Amino acid sequence: MELKVFDDVSAASEYAAGMIADIIKTKSDPILGLATGASPILTYKKLVDLYESGEISFNNVVTFNLDEYCGLAADDVNSYHYFMFDKLFDHVDIDINNVHIPDGDSDDPIAEAACYDALIDSFGGIDIQLLGIGVNGHIGFNEPSDSFIGATHIVELSQSTIDVNGKYFTDYVIPDRAITMGIDQIMKAKKIIMLAYGDSKADIIYKLFHADSVTPMIPATALIKHPDCTVICDKEAARKL
Ligand code: PGA
Repeated sequence: MELKVFDDVSAASEYAAGMIADIIKTKSDPILGLATGASPILTYKKLVDLYESGEISFNNVVTFNLDEYCGLAADDVNSYHYFMFDKLFDHVDIDINNVHIPDGDSDDPIAEAACYDALIDSFGGIDIQLLGIGVNGHIGFNEPSDSFIGATHIVELSQSTIDVNGKYFTDYVIPDRAITMGIDQIMKAKKIIMLAYGDSKADIIYKLFHADSVTPMIPATALIKHPDCTVICDKEAARKL
C-alpha cells in the first residue's frame, strides 16, 4: 500500500479525482468501482468540475458501486442509489444503463448478489476501485468477522456501522442488513484508492499500517496484498503514523 497524506480534504480529493480522471482519459471503456459515504463526496464534486470544464466525459464510463442497504427503494433519500445520482450521476454525461448498484430491495437478494459478480466479470473487472474505510476497518460493508467472504453477499451490519451511519437516518431506523461486493471482487480491481479523512479514522489507519498480517477482523488489511493500492489521507487521519 502506498500512503499519500495531504494537508486537507480538498487537496486529497483533488488527487483522488485526478487518479480516476486519468483512467477515464486513457481507457476507451473505463470500468469504475465507486463508493458512498462522506469521504468520496468532494472527489465526486471534483470529477463533476472536470466534466464541466470539458476535461473528461463519462459517455463510455461503466460503474459498479460497492454496496446498498437492504430494503430501501432506489428513490429513498437514504439509499446509496439516491446518493450516487445526487452527488455524481445527475451532473455528468453518463449513460444510466452503464450505472450498476446492487439492488438491496430485490425479492431474491441471493440471486442478485450472484448476478452482480457475474456482471462485473463480464466487463473484464474493475479498472479503479474507490473505497472508504469504516472506523472498524470495514471496506464496502465487509464487516470485521472470523473469515473473509469473497463474493458479493448479504451482510448483517455491525453495531459500529449502525452507530456511525445511523445518524444519517432521521425518519426511520437504519436497516440492519446490506448487500456488499465481497473481498475477492474488491481485490480483483486493477487499481484501488482508499480515502480516510478526519480524526475518527486515525486509529484504524494506524492499525492498518501496523498490522502484522491480513486479518478478517480488520477487513481493510486485505489491501496489504494488493499490488496497486493507494491510501489517501488528510493530516488528521494520518496523525498517528
Ligand atoms: P465515511 O464511511 O466515508 O462516511 O467515513 C466510510 C465507510 O464506512 O466505508
